[in-house]
Amino acid sequence: MHDLYRKYVNRSQVSLMTSFGFGRELVERAEGAYIYTRDGRKILDFTGGVGVLSHGHNHPRILAARKRFQDQQRMEVHKTYFSPYIAALGNNLAQLLPGDLSMSFFPNSGAEAVEGAVKLAYKYHGGRRQRILHADISFHGKLLGSGSLTGSPQKNFAFPGIPGVETFTYGDLDSVRRLVAQARTADGGCDVYAILIEPFSASTMRYCSEEFLRGLRELCTAEDIILVFDEIYTGWGKTGSLFYFTRYEGLLPDVLTTSKSFGGGKSSISAYIARESVFRKAYDNLGDALMTSTSTTYYGFGEECATAIEAVNIVVDDDYPARARDLDRVLAPGLERIAKQFPDIISNTVGSGALHGVFLDGGPKLLDLAARLAPGGFRQDPQFRTKLITCAVINALYRDHDIYTYYTLNGSNPLVVGPPLVATTDEVERFLDAFEQTLSQGMSKLLARFVKEKVGSLWA
Ligand SMILES: Cc1ncc(COP(=O)(O)O)c(C=O)c1O
Repeated sequence: MHDLYRKYVNRSQVSLMTSFGFGRELVERAEGAYIYTRDGRKILDFTGGVGVLSHGHNHPRILAARKRFQDQQRMEVHKTYFSPYIAALGNNLAQLLPGDLSMSFFPNSGAEAVEGAVKLAYKYHGGRRQRILHADISFHGKLLGSGSLTGSPQKNFAFPGIPGVETFTYGDLDSVRRLVAQARTADGGCDVYAILIEPFSASTMRYCSEEFLRGLRELCTAEDIILVFDEIYTGWGKTGSLFYFTRYEGLLPDVLTTSKSFGGGKSSISAYIARESVFRKAYDNLGDALMTSTSTTYYGFGEECATAIEAVNIVVDDDYPARARDLDRVLAPGLERIAKQFPDIISNTVGSGALHGVFLDGGPKLLDLAARLAPGGFRQDPQFRTKLITCAVINALYRDHDIYTYYTLNGSNPLVVGPPLVATTDEVERFLDAFEQTLSQGMSKLLARFVKEKVGSLWA
């Protein structure tokens, strides 16, 4: 496998991933919160699949829904026939979401949903407004458009992007107001067509205050700016409410984007859902009847939609927001306790529901020397130290305790503790015990082992 990857996929990926245990093992199968490797290990998956796996691996209801679709030989490729799945999914979302967020479109990836939302906002204003605002810390995808709206890209290359992108400070309403004021046109209008924000930023574990979100809403309403909430990561109960913003009564974006666990861990599907009046003004005419400006070959594909219908049914039937709150009641105080126990290693822990970040710091001074000796790409990385420490902890959790975690590649690289919503509080306790035992080995020992076992072979 490594050879084939080296030859036909990506050589550097092999070098990097084999520096962790999981890059050296093969997965036989996966079920619920567990991954079973070929050599007989049973790994507790606390990554949450980077937001994809709230339902865990291979949820039986998701498998059954897909099997039904296949057994009945459904035909859902042609867009010229109406799809009962698109109709039902659109209906269900409209029933679940607050206000008049009721018009849905279903592409395949989060980045496409973001770009669809941005295009809708641009079209809403008939192409007359040219500016779009996004936050300095933000992750919205990696296509050329969504990548240019991402505030903290993996900054190793500057790709071209869409024009008119301006950056405000996350959570700072005055900085948004300043940009809107600068966008005043000669006739007293506003040149901003959309503001894009993650109410909870999973890549940095920062979240907006209620005051900030309500202030944004007020400003967007006053200036007729389309407000887009990107909840691609945080939707479907993950943070303890259906969406992060739905914890605030009466708060409504003009467009919401979702993906990841929307596909139940099996289907590559995303959505943007617009308020009815916004959608109608942008696209409600015969020229846009087939949505050709945002469609892709696979958008609204039957099996993906059937899967998403079941994924959402499960979220409702099993009350995923309540499950996330249950896990939070054990996870949050547990992480706080461990942070107090190891103040030299943990600088902060932040999170909500089943999505927490642990910011690791410290380590011996020797690390600075290691950073200077590291190969080119690493040497220039200001986060090198944090990444190395965090990798050492992830590696020890995996090797010694059969627990799989990860750190975010964007933002400030917290170690992410994101159990799937099918995990139990006992499994959270197991993680906390393992985490405590790992840190009590001391950072120097963990690092020495990691560098010796792994990075040594990478640098050789
Ligand atoms: C908030 C947010 N927006 C957009 C995206 C992009 O989604 P995708 O990777 O499916 O293109 C992500 C992916 O992590 C995300 O977390």
